Amino acid sequence: MSVLASFQRRLEGKVALITGGASGIGESTARLFCKHGAKVVVADMQDELGRSVCADISPTEASFIHCDVTDEDNVSHAVDHTITKYGKLDIMFNNAGINHMLKPNILNISKEEFLQVLNVNLVGVFLGTKHAARAMIAARQGSIINTASGVSQCVLPEFHAYVSSKYAVVGLTRNTAAELGRFGIRVNCVSPGGVATRMTEGLGGLGKQEFEAMMSSLGYLKNVKLKAEDIADAVLYLGSDESKYVTGHNLVVDGGLSFGRACVELAKP
Ligand SMILES: NC(=O)c1ccc[n+]([C@@H]2O[C@H](COP(=O)([O-])OP(=O)(O)OC[C@H]3O[C@@H](n4cnc5c(N)ncnc54)[C@H](O)[C@@H]3O)[C@@H](O)[C@H]2O)c1
Repeated sequence: MSVLASFQRRLEGKVALITGGASGIGESTARLFCKHGAKVVVADMQDELGRSVCADISPTEASFIHCDVTDEDNVSHAVDHTITKYGKLDIMFNNAGINHMLKPNILNISKEEFLQVLNVNLVGVFLGTKHAARAMIAARQGSIINTASGVSQCVLPEFHAYVSSKYAVVGLTRNTAAELGRFGIRVNCVSPGGVATRMTEGLGGLGKQEFEAMMSSLGYLKNVKLKAEDIADAVLYLGSDESKYVTGHNLVVDGGLSFGRACVELAKP
């Protein structure tokens, strides 16, 4: 990992907890945060992968903890572990998420499937926010960042549960920003467009390059391919003091995919 000069490091001295940090957007963010001087705890259910990512970043600056974000004891323990290990919690990145199989017909979605997605994508964010707030209220400062999605501002009729969960993440972000602002705690979300990660693997039968090319063709911003690292850059901004007066914001990073027609086009059979 290349190390930046101290004047370039935007998270020097900060401590972050990242859920879903073993892979994709969370992993890229963990790497970038450490590069910028933060100590990072990666919380995920993929123990082997999470441990190897942390060992690769730095055995002293990054550490792994097993955590299922739907389990309140796990989440509470991850927050406590972070404070015990590194002394405090400055940044909570509630990023773990799942998608579900393409379901063009609401009649084919079971209540269990719907709840499973909401449980990880929404309840997980709620629990992460609640336990981070417990630590941050005492410290009278902190930045909570939640991963929503570009679909939080458009429609994708094949993904009712996923889209519902991401709209709700934006609502929870704004509501908690309103409550926690008086303690100096900022709450924002980042909304990625389509990024080739494990979650999108095989979607529509497309390989990584094809997926990136398709996403790039759908956005209004042309000739740019969205990468997990681009989302990490946005999260870095929200976690750093550069965004010290930004709260309740949904930072959409999707090349304009979701504000117009393009997202609906994606949903066409
Ligand atoms: N990839 C995209 O196109 C895209 C677009 C918009 C939003 N997102 C969101 O970005 C976030 C990260 O997804 P990604 O694309 O990096 O996918 P990914 O599959 O690479 O990473 C998701 C991580 O979350 C972990 N996870 C899943 N369930 C968990 C649980 N119950 N407890 C703890 N960890 C759990 C997984 O083990 C994995 O490491 C998700 O919230 C996703 O909805 C992704």
